[in-house]
Amino acid sequence: MTGPDSPRTGPERVPAPDPHRGGVARTRPGPELTRRRALQVGGLGLLGVTVGAPAWARGPVGGLRTLAAESLREPETLHSEDGLLRVRLEVAETSVTLAGRPAHMLTYNGTVPGPTLRLRPGDRLQIELVNRLSAPTNLHTHGLHVSPKGNADNTLDVHVHPGESFRYDIQLPDDHPPGPFWYHPHEHHLVADQIWSGLYGGIVVEDAGPEVPVTRDRLLVVSDTTLDDAGHPVHVAEWERVKGREGQLVLVNGQLTPTLEARPGERERWRIVNACTSRFLRLRLDGHQMDLLATDIGRLAEPRRVEEVEVLNSGRVDVLVTVGERSGELQGLANPRTRDRDGDGPSGAPGALATLQVTGTPVPALPPVPAYPQLPDLRGVEPAARRTMVLGLDWSGGGHEDHGDGHGTGGMVMTIDGRPFDPARTDQVTRLGTVEEWTYVNRTGMDHPLHLHVWPMQLVAVDGRPVEDVVYQDVVRVPAGGETTVRIPFEDFDGRTVFHCHINDHEDAGMMAVVEARNG
Ligand code: C2O
Ligand code: CU
Ligand code: CU
Repeated sequence: MTGPDSPRTGPERVPAPDPHRGGVARTRPGPELTRRRALQVGGLGLLGVTVGAPAWARGPVGGLRTLAAESLREPETLHSEDGLLRVRLEVAETSVTLAGRPAHMLTYNGTVPGPTLRLRPGDRLQIELVNRLSAPTNLHTHGLHVSPKGNADNTLDVHVHPGESFRYDIQLPDDHPPGPFWYHPHEHHLVADQIWSGLYGGIVVEDAGPEVPVTRDRLLVVSDTTLDDAGHPVHVAEWERVKGREGQLVLVNGQLTPTLEARPGERERWRIVNACTSRFLRLRLDGHQMDLLATDIGRLAEPRRVEEVEVLNSGRVDVLVTVGERSGELQGLANPRTRDRDGDGPSGAPGALATLQVTGTPVPALPPVPAYPQLPDLRGVEPAARRTMVLGLDWSGGGHEDHGDGHGTGGMVMTIDGRPFDPARTDQVTRLGTVEEWTYVNRTGMDHPLHLHVWPMQLVAVDGRPVEDVVYQDVVRVPAGGETTVRIPFEDFDGRTVFHCHINDHEDAGMMAVVEARNG
């Protein structure tokens, strides 16, 4: 470990799975031939070629509903007490049940997703991360407005090597906005493989103001992966990394189309996290009313009625669902993310993700949702700087070549301003206490979900079209061949951190850069 404060308190090293696959499971000995075939089938399945595929993998992603429907399970929830949440997260390969079948995943404390961390503004979050993998890992608290330095949300300097552990200590400001957040590894070149293999968990920051009256609170962590015959996450080919891998299994809390039971008239609060490595979601719940409360860190002043919600990968939404009379399905619609928006390419429709089963007698209506303070509209502020950042890709070589380590992109390198990520280089320097306007320009044929750590972004314009509402997100779509403009309040925390494409394969291939907010 090379953390700034390196308590080498880690347990003894556990026998290695496969050091070359970012910890992607491989400890179970098995007939290698079968295994190879399974890997190939997994890859072909994504192309829609299903010849020879095992029965469970046949048909479209949504076509697996013949399995008995299970009630939605939620991961264990850990609450802060008296302003402190202290947790130990052990990262290990574990045999779990995923999508109703045995799987060998990477887990936090043995479950997929990992435990949910529930915090209040002003809380202190202490996490001891214990690495029992054969590959390095680390932890990022995605979306939290916290320090990127020292033992806090420091993805640049902290690397937890096999058998070691690290103590994170993260202080939320007293006025931290509420919302759904999540945690996941951020070890460069391994992020996509580790998330694909099961490493993610939810974080909820509660409202500071008056409670939103609801009958039920749920956290839905959507993720995707593809498993081989033996239940291992498949190894992903270079061309899939170039596009951004998408899994055949689209899961909610690790389950395939789970059932959520509710009575007519109930008002539920669903915090939805898109933990897929690449897949963009667009969700619809016909027959029930959906009101959007927040996107990412951006709590709206008033709930806004919506017909459908978009959740880019790594993004979150907080929605109120008012249950209608009849059962319905939470449908995943196509949300194409390539220039060719025919719906057949990446982020096609995954189909039903969950069933809302309506039973019992209707409940009386709840009191209205109290208004929440409006987040500041930065369009009234003159930016201290305007910057343009160009997202590109480069086939001319020199990229992270696949030296048989299984996570290259065949010499293709993804760049910001023509350069692949270099953790030692500081690409942008901003001044703490100022607002800047950044325009991300996309010179590629795919959309890229651009994410900035620590400081939220107010979405100002997409392809030159102004955004009317006050919308804050920590991940924004930068359309293929287009551009997206945001304003960023570089407030409260100084230090170095990153912004990057959150298609994790692109991030691993270099589409990431360093920003430093300097004090003074
Ligand atoms: Cu969700 Cu830099 O990550
Ligand atoms: Cu992040
Ligand atoms: Cu990208």
